Amino acid sequence: MTTQEYTFRIQRNTPDEKGGMTSRWQEFKISAEPGTTILTCLEEIKRKQDGTLTFRQSCRSAICGSCAIRIGGRTRLACKTHVGKVAKDGLVEIGPQNNQPVLKDLAIDISNFFQKVRSITPYLQQGSESATKVTSTAYDQVNHVTQCILCGCCYSDCTMAEVSKEFIGPAALAKAFRFVSDPREGKKSDRLNQLSEPHGIWSCSRCTMCVEVCPKEVAPMEAIVKLRTRGVAKGLTDSAGARHALAFHGDIQKSGSLNEFTLMFRTLGFLGSLMETDMAIHLAKKGKVPSPFPHAVDGVEELRRMYQHLEQNPLEVETKAKEAVPE
Ligand code: SF4
Ligand code: FES
Repeated sequence: MTTQEYTFRIQRNTPDEKGGMTSRWQEFKISAEPGTTILTCLEEIKRKQDGTLTFRQSCRSAICGSCAIRIGGRTRLACKTHVGKVAKDGLVEIGPQNNQPVLKDLAIDISNFFQKVRSITPYLQQGSESATKVTSTAYDQVNHVTQCILCGCCYSDCTMAEVSKEFIGPAALAKAFRFVSDPREGKKSDRLNQLSEPHGIWSCSRCTMCVEVCPKEVAPMEAIVKLRTRGVAKGLTDSAGARHALAFHGDIQKSGSLNEFTLMFRTLGFLGSLMETDMAIHLAKKGKVPSPFPHAVDGVEELRRMYQHLEQNPLEVETKAKEAVPE
């Protein structure tokens, strides 16, 4: 394969004496084959052009998760990403992960991310809900999520983590699902209770970024949706998120369309809705007042039959592990 010229535009971050950070972009020219990994290119830049360039790496095999950085607008593993796939007109833009404090150049402080993973009690607990029989479906669930290498790609590109520092995040929630779905776990209900608290499973906005960027096909959002389903099945519906989901479910089943007029009240309750009065007035001024009596959509009878059929014949929603194929 022939080599090509690439320009690496790298964000250089330098801590200053006052505890702040100075950021600038620096460009490096490098000649590489399109199949060369970004990590190899960074190593060459460090070896031949600037020994002060700082980044993390260890296994070089997409196993340890330490080389996750922003490459071409997405967080990816540098050791798994080929330069030819991400370069745009020969340019590759590189920066540190989002949503985590930067230490220097591309190296971030991962302690907050790991603290969130620790907060879900990442080990099996003894308790009354332990079972000794492990079915192959249950094993698939556990196995699927254990492919996570804690690289932080999902957390870095998570749009909810960007606006809420308290949100526990996709990786920690996927790990929580690993324990909730393990038949040997003795405190499944306690876990679901805790995960239904604010900043847990109902805070995910389902932007799907975590599914898109995960290099191990863990699909954290799917795990979050399954945790929600299990929580609601256990009667954990006393949260804005659960009430919102149930309001959608009920409306669509009833008329095929959402009653937006009462949706906020049913989601947030009386006091919560009062807090949103400003927004309601703003919408009313713009003429965006939904009808309190939504009409049933055409074909609503068929829709109800579908609901009835699904209730009697629930779909198998448990996904199986897909093998992660190296790029
Ligand atoms: Fe990385 Fe995927 Fe685990 Fe998130 S879920 S930390 S993206 S391996
Ligand atoms: Fe270990 Fe990339 S160096 S995952």
